[in-house]
Parts: sequence; C-alpha cells; structure tokens
Amino acid sequence: MSNILHNATIDTLLERRSIRKFKQEPLDDDIVETLETVAQHAASSQFLNDWSAVRITDPDLKKQLSKISRQAYIATAPLLYVFVLDEHRNAAIAAEKGIETASDAFTLNGSYRYTQAQNDAVLALHAMETAAYSLGLGCVILGSLLNDVQKLIDLLNLPEYTYPVLGLAIGKPDQEPALKPRMPRSMQFFENEYPENDELLLLGLHDFDEQVHQYYDLRNADRPVDAFSDQIATNAVDEGVNEKAVAPLAKRQGFRLER
Ligand SMILES: Cc1cc2nc3c(=O)[nH]c(=O)nc-3n(C[C@H](O)[C@H](O)[C@H](O)COP(=O)(O)O)c2cc1C
Repeated sequence: MSNILHNATIDTLLERRSIRKFKQEPLDDDIVETLETVAQHAASSQFLNDWSAVRITDPDLKKQLSKISRQAYIATAPLLYVFVLDEHRNAAIAAEKGIETASDAFTLNGSYRYTQAQNDAVLALHAMETAAYSLGLGCVILGSLLNDVQKLIDLLNLPEYTYPVLGLAIGKPDQEPALKPRMPRSMQFFENEYPENDELLLLGLHDFDEQVHQYYDLRNADRPVDAFSDQIATNAVDEGVNEKAVAPLAKRQGFRLER
C-alpha cells in the first residue's frame, strides 16, 4: 500500500511521461507567456540567471533541428525551445561596468561556473516542463540536439560564452504512452551514507528489470523493451564506456562492439 500524498502538483509530477507525438494545433500566446515566466521563476545559483532559451518558430529551423536530433516529429512540434548556458549576457553587463570578461567567471571554461549555469538551465527547463504538464500539455526533453553541437550553435547564432544544453518540445499530446516504471526507492535514496556493498544497493534490481521489460515503449512497438540492466550494459557498449569491462558481457549477449 502506498502512503504517497496527493495534490494537483504531486499528481502532475507522478503522471509525467515523455510525449513524442503532438496534435498539430498552435498553442495560445498566453500559454507561451505562462510557461516562459514560470521558467524564469526557477531558482538560480548566486542569482546569476546564467541561462537563456531560444524559442524556435521558423519551420525550416525546426526541420534542421529535427535532423540533428534524428527525431522527425520535432519538425512539427508546436512549441520548441533550446535552453542555453549563457554567460554572454552577464559578460556584456560586466563589460559595461568596465570589468575584464575573459575570465573563468564568464567563459564557461571553469567547471564550477559551467555546472552552475547548467544547473540553472535544467531547473528552468524542468519548471517549464512541469507547468506545461499541469496545463494538460505534453513534452519531451531533447538531449539529442547535441548530436551536432557546432551545427546547433551555428544555426542559433549562439555567441561566445554560451553553450546549448537541452531542447524541450511541447504540445497537446497525440499519444498516450504508459508510465515508465522507476527503480525501487531503496536503490536511489540512501540514509546517511551510501550502501556499503553492492548487493544491498542492487536489492530490487531483478523486479525492476522485469517491470521495465514489461513496459510498452511506443517508439519500439514491435519488440519488448530490454530489462534495465541490459539497457545499461548496451548503453555502455554503444557509448564505448568501459568497453573493455563490458566486452565479455557483450559477447555473451550477442551485442556488436564494432561501430
Ligand atoms: C537530459 C535528458 C535528455 C533527453 N533526451 C531525449 C531525446 O533526445 N530524445 C527523446 O526522445 N527523449 C529524450 N529524453 C527523455 C527520456 O528518454 C525519458 O525521460 C526517459 O526515458 C524516461 O521516460 P519518461 O520521461 O516517459 O518517464 C531525455 C531526457 C533527459 C532527462
């Protein structure tokens, strides 16, 4: 029996699932204004406000972005944003005060400032996403826009001290995907310290694997979804992460290592 409390906000978050097919209906300006204002109200580290978002309305540009992300429906997403880490604006503001701006405070070369800007951008995007769902809309976050970062930068005319981080496509849902299962809370929330052995950590993995395997993914409707642990292993092989360690497993399971 679940003891989860419910209200409109919690239910919006618990019901959230990625939507990858949208009705071809434009969204009202007041929706756009609402979503953008909500995003601006997200928390911001040191109040640097070091993110921006580019609203993509040009159909040709949408098409080009859909090619970069290799997801065709993005070409017709009713509302599409690219969130950008942005120290350019702060550098311009500082330059007006006569401050030298070629420092790590603005260049995004320092990992702390980069992470800070990324955190801000992701929080803003997530606020927008949640607000969209609360209005009955659907969204998908798009890391795949980074398949060709240089092209994205060129297309959006992004200046120095900026870096694109994620896209967000929004519209009225034209599909009803199942809720994707999540791992047991015990595998992701720990008390006071990280579990001392991996056996404890992975308690519950077997059941979770089974739930993920049962999940029906509209993107691959013709075949069952791999168990979570298989997805993690495949991903590591595809990405070349730790290829050596995974090679024996890949061989056992018949994955291809060449690419
Ligand atoms: C940082 C990030 C990048 C993502 N990029 C993509 C993407 O490029 N394309 C896509 O279809 N889904 C993308 N997703 C959505 C995830 O695939 C999805 O959230 C995950 O499979 C869980 O499914 P759910 O959102 O339906 O719960 C992304 C999600 C995140 C958080």
